[in-house]
Amino acid sequence: MLKEVTATRYVTPLREGGSLPGIVEADDLGTYVMKFTGAGQGRKTLVAEVICGQLGRRLGLRVPELVTMQLDPVIGLGEPDQEVQELLKASGGLNLGMDFLPGSLGFDPLAYEVGPAEAGRIVWFDALINNVDRSWRNPNMLVWHGDLWLIDHGATMIWQHNWPGAQASAAKPYDASDHVLAPFRPDIASAARELAPLVTEELLTEVAAEVPDEWLVDEPGFDSTDALRRAYVAALLPRAATIHERLTFDTPVKERPSQAPGWLTEHLAPWPHPTKQSGGEGR
Ligand SMILES: Nc1ncnc2c1ncn2[C@@H]1O[C@H](COP(=O)(O)OP(=O)(O)OP(=O)(O)O)[C@@H](O)[C@H]1O
Ligand SMILES: [Mg+2]
Repeated sequence: MLKEVTATRYVTPLREGGSLPGIVEADDLGTYVMKFTGAGQGRKTLVAEVICGQLGRRLGLRVPELVTMQLDPVIGLGEPDQEVQELLKASGGLNLGMDFLPGSLGFDPLAYEVGPAEAGRIVWFDALINNVDRSWRNPNMLVWHGDLWLIDHGATMIWQHNWPGAQASAAKPYDASDHVLAPFRPDIASAARELAPLVTEELLTEVAAEVPDEWLVDEPGFDSTDALRRAYVAALLPRAATIHERLTFDTPVKERPSQAPGWLTEHLAPWPHPTKQSGGEGR
């Protein structure tokens, strides 16, 4: 199970997030990015965060630790912002927390180099979970202590929004043209060889078991939360074995605008980066 903590102080909203996540302190003295059950995106976003975030961690990708967070909306009483007040009021009970990475920077493809092996692992993983939210517009990756960290797995597993069509939806290809790591020559074949055999029924079942029951109850068409957990497993398991064959880069990779200020990137060569003379994972 995920560790459960209790929120003790609402620090500040993270306005760049569409779901208005907040920085929250907890009774374990940790600081977390809290995603709220009362947010407009709904609880399925949180289910996706747990299943995909924990799956990524189990595959050895860097995803900050996830916890469940008990929230008593009373901690937001002093919060002047009406929107935040209402979000907290609608989110009493269990919410999701992600370990806050202090001092991390949003990933910028012009300011940070990624080798084909790491790019391959991340693009393959995003293909598996059908992540449509790791584009250059919204990379959902952080650079922390020189390493890449993956965040925000809420917009994944589109099939969870229409269970009767889930198997057909999960059998569809994944177009990675828009992926922020598409220009880094992701080595998909190696990633699939390394990671696909790790995605077993047992692992997926363990990961699905970490989703709190209360985010799964009363799903139409399922008579128990475990039946719904099995549906998540059944969609991902066959996809893991074959998604590399259906992973396409349909539109040519375009030049990526930098999101970093000029003073940070102007010393860099224009896109694409020149091939390295030596080292650097075969680029
Ligand atoms: N663990 C973390 N540590 C530090 N900063 C974080 C962390 N998680 C999120 N952030 C910051 O908060 C922002 C919003 O987080 P996130 O993308 O998870 O929220 P969202 O509401 O799902 O956003 P989106 O608009 O992409 O749907 C991130 O872009 C990042 O700047
Ligand atoms: Mg985001």
